[in-house]
Amino acid sequence: MIIIENIKTLHNHLFTIKKDSKTIGFVPTMGALHKGHISLILKAKVENNISVCSIFVNPTQFNNVSDLEKYPKTLEADIIKLKKADCDFLFLPSVEEMYPKNEVNLYYNLGLIETTLEGKYRPGHFQGVCIIVDKLLAIVMPTTLYLGRKDYQQCMVINKMMQDKPYNINLCICDTVREEDGLAMSSRNMRLDEIERQRALRIIESLQMIECNLKIGSLELLKKSSVIFLEQNNYKVDYVEIADAETLELQTTWDGKRKLVALVAAYLNDVRLIDNIIL
Ligand code: PAJ
Repeated sequence: MIIIENIKTLHNHLFTIKKDSKTIGFVPTMGALHKGHISLILKAKVENNISVCSIFVNPTQFNNVSDLEKYPKTLEADIIKLKKADCDFLFLPSVEEMYPKNEVNLYYNLGLIETTLEGKYRPGHFQGVCIIVDKLLAIVMPTTLYLGRKDYQQCMVINKMMQDKPYNINLCICDTVREEDGLAMSSRNMRLDEIERQRALRIIESLQMIECNLKIGSLELLKKSSVIFLEQNNYKVDYVEIADAETLELQTTWDGKRKLVALVAAYLNDVRLIDNIIL
């Protein structure tokens, strides 16, 4: 695996590769890699000639300074995992490299998907995600971008950002990888102690409650029951919502036909966990 910290160097490497009509699969990450990330790398490898992973803890997408400071950093272990997965390139830029002084950040017109759900509780977050992913795509120029459905709204936001740009890049959205007991893998899980780790299962259970009890008519009681369930288990709930799986418009009733997604975000002490399931 070739590790590159400089934009120009990476761009030059990949430009030559593209000139040879080779395909590039790209997986952007913020590090603290787990099997969810590695599943994306493996898919990028299977489907392309060259795989590229980036690790960059992007400051502009953190609306909370302490969340940024506490974000786990495990670079040595990450490199070992990427080498084991046979990843071809690791891009490891510095903040100065990605955000040169005096550069004005772009603004992305994202519509409803910017302000609902995660956007409501993390203002500015999706602008930050778009800024960095846009920059990374312009550098890597991949054939296909690989994202995880674990961050359902992020996939929709990045898809919208890409549609509004003259990119000719495929988007591959991959299933959420879970621990054996059902907990969605997340870098933030590293911050959970033993008791919190057990309690973290309530997140997927709150979604399964919705899945099991979904029926035509009002969805209000369904959502409320999951909120109460989480609160009884010491969670501070940001939201439990049921939305149109394609537009992310929040739903209060169900006609039995519309494709829905249930999404949750809640704090277990100071660790914010999110998850979703398509119903
Ligand atoms: P990060 O949280 O490191 O996630 C990197 C990619 O891995 C994202 O596409 C995310 O959805 C995916 N992922 C995380 N957990 C997963 C799981 N359990 N199963 C499958 N895929 C999973 O998301 C980000 O970084 C950043 O916002 C980023 C896109 C890199 C921009 O900074």
